[in-house]
Amino acid sequence: MKPIRKAVLPVAGLGTRILPAAKTTPKNLLNVYDRPILSHVVEEGRAAGIEHFVFIVGRGQSAIEDYFDHAFELETQLEAKGRTDLLTQVRGELSTPGEMSFVRQMAPLGLGHAVWCARDIIGDEPFAVMLPDMLMDAAPGALSQVIDAYRAVGGNVVAVEPAPPGEAHKYGIVALGDAAPGFDGRLAAMTGMEEKPAPGAEPSNLFISGRYVLQPAIFALLAAQAAGAGGEIQLTDAMVRLMATDGFHALRYAGTTYDCGDKLGLLRANVAYALKDADGGVRAVLREMLEAYTDPR
Ligand code: G1P
Repeated sequence: MKPIRKAVLPVAGLGTRILPAAKTTPKNLLNVYDRPILSHVVEEGRAAGIEHFVFIVGRGQSAIEDYFDHAFELETQLEAKGRTDLLTQVRGELSTPGEMSFVRQMAPLGLGHAVWCARDIIGDEPFAVMLPDMLMDAAPGALSQVIDAYRAVGGNVVAVEPAPPGEAHKYGIVALGDAAPGFDGRLAAMTGMEEKPAPGAEPSNLFISGRYVLQPAIFALLAAQAAGAGGEIQLTDAMVRLMATDGFHALRYAGTTYDCGDKLGLLRANVAYALKDADGGVRAVLREMLEAYTDPR
């Protein structure tokens, strides 16, 4: 079984749900407590053994590339001031040489098209897809859990979780067959998938939440994939076709997902990650603010 060494991170989306914050800052560089969302997601990928990150970017997103590169002026000034603590922190965010590639998705044609843009860099090996809007707080990390499942069953594996009541139609939804051995019954063979099913006709309430292991055969299918839901080339539609010839499993991963592409989701992620801060000061601040707050209505 081939190891999972590369991950595709589609980051080109406009971030319409978090405008105006995402107007000039790429949405995945918005902050979650002490670091940008992408920093948390790259850390999750590295912990899962990812050696090469392929970012699918849009115009105006060069700040992502810069974030993982040296900031000479800043580093020189920190060095001159003897701020080695901050210098270590800033340098801790650097890419290692050759670890990252940036590919322009020149038109917003959909998630399937974004993943297809990585085909030459991925080549003929299974790979991961990480949707960085979805910040997954888990130990071990969500991608590590999906890769563990892949090691057990091979083929293709996606992380899933229950959609909030009444919201399943907003996502890619899976239909499941028998549970695979182990994984506390959380790993199951998939029997179907549908992108944004009609409300009331969803095959289950389990949605594809943003971590995938896929076989490279997906690229040929994506190349010929017709537009689907929302007029976009959908990854899920190509996965449905791959399922005809290749195994697919869904893992209900253990952890909490925050949809950072949404104002409230981003706020929840900030609070959750702040609460985890070891010194506990955040709890006191939040308690104080809630007690002092009076609803103006
Ligand atoms: C995409 C995928 C969908 C998945 C969702 C998770 O949809 O197409 O299958 O459930 O991400 O956030 P989008 O959010 O781009 O509409």
